Amino acid sequence: MGSWKSVEWSSFDPAIDDEHQKLHQMISSLTAVVARNASLGLGMEAVDIMTERMKLHFGLEEQAMGGADPDSCSILHEDHQRLLGLLRQIRQVMGNGHYEEATALARLFSSELAKHDQEIDVPLFRMVAGRDTTKQQVS
Ligand SMILES: [Fe+2]
Ligand SMILES: [Fe+2]
Repeated sequence: MGSWKSVEWSSFDPAIDDEHQKLHQMISSLTAVVARNASLGLGMEAVDIMTERMKLHFGLEEQAMGGADPDSCSILHEDHQRLLGLLRQIRQVMGNGHYEEATALARLFSSELAKHDQEIDVPLFRMVAGRDTTKQQVS
């Protein structure tokens, strides 16, 4: 996997790109915390921090997209809800003492988030910015 600074993953919205870069660093650190501390309160705390951070990120994206393209905003919203559901599931599984499953789900969340950003956010924000999603060049 390349860097979130790569042009191929640019949404052409600097605020969104900046968010994605910071977010992915933070989520991979928190995923590691969950993996190492799933049986401790720290693991639960890390999931709660991830959830709050993701709500902020999703809100920012939906606000940015809402005025520009309501249909794209609905697509974003639906997949954001799916990702938040996965975080709720991690919390529940962890609370039930299934720590290995919680760790596996946290890793799944991290990869599902990267997939979401690359396959949903980037193409939709590019489309709204009027950039051809098949071209990788920045003018
Ligand atoms: Fe995103
Ligand atoms: Fe998104």
